[in-house]
Amino acid sequence: MVQKVTKAIFPVAGLGTRFLPATKSVPKEIMTLVDRPLIQYAIDEARAAGITEFIFVTSRGKGALEDYFDHAPQLESELESKGKTELLNILQDTNMDSGAVAYVRQHKAKGLGHAVWCARRLIGDEPVAVLLPDDVIAADKPCLQQMVEAYEETGGNMVAAMEVPSEKTSSYGVLDVANDMGNMVSVKGMVEKPAPGTSPSNLAVIGRYILTPQVLNHLNDMKEGAGGEIQLTDAIAQEVTESNNVYGFRFRGQRFDCGSKAGFLQATVSFGLQRPELKDELEQYLIELASARQAAQ
Ligand code: UTP
Repeated sequence: MVQKVTKAIFPVAGLGTRFLPATKSVPKEIMTLVDRPLIQYAIDEARAAGITEFIFVTSRGKGALEDYFDHAPQLESELESKGKTELLNILQDTNMDSGAVAYVRQHKAKGLGHAVWCARRLIGDEPVAVLLPDDVIAADKPCLQQMVEAYEETGGNMVAAMEVPSEKTSSYGVLDVANDMGNMVSVKGMVEKPAPGTSPSNLAVIGRYILTPQVLNHLNDMKEGAGGEIQLTDAIAQEVTESNNVYGFRFRGQRFDCGSKAGFLQATVSFGLQRPELKDELEQYLIELASARQAAQ
């Protein structure tokens, strides 16, 4: 039987330069899609997958993120006394149990691999999930839950994967596929940001991982890779070579790259259209906007 995944790492120590000037004082992960911070979507997804320990790799200037996970007794009693039960429930749903959250500091943004490595002492000899909050995935069954279910059959390491157009592969970690089994592939190699024309496939890795302790071990002596950063992809690639136990999982759902402005805006519109209280007004606006733009052409 495979060991259950109960811990998750949320690397949130990046500089978020693509959202400057906002990220000068607001952590990217606190920015909201409609009314929920990006990090809340990741937490909800992790909870649905059975995660009970939440480890945040933070950095200087991320205080607002830590505050976000505190209970808000004053706000709660105010809402309670005013009978605003619905809002109170929304607020209380974001509360985290005492001791369920841990913070580790990454002193310098040396890359995703380094961020994950910073959390190694809190993981020990267990598998761990890694969720990048700027990848937001809309899905009937949350992506990590799909992965955990698949992992219970395979064990090993699992990365979420999706097909991307050839001209986009150089922005991702890309899988070299050994055996394609449909929603799952076994992997014989992995390349971070392959130079155009050199990509081993169109199957790109996005920000959900289930990793064995061996991968964290490989990070102990990982050198800088693509972009001068310590890459998680390189440590997983080493595990492919040594143990041949890495799988790519084609999740069902739509992924939004909320680390980019275009992706963030698309997610905002898409999540807005899912909300019964916003849907009609927003849809009407989009229709009017599209026809006004067409008329102006
Ligand atoms: P990104 O590549 O999106 O980098 O990181 P970034 O710094 O957040 O944003 P830009 O590119 O400057 O706009 C992907 C994820 O990895 C985390 C980020 O917080 C984000 O969740 N990360 C990245 C770290 O925790 N530490 C790092 O050193 C790098």
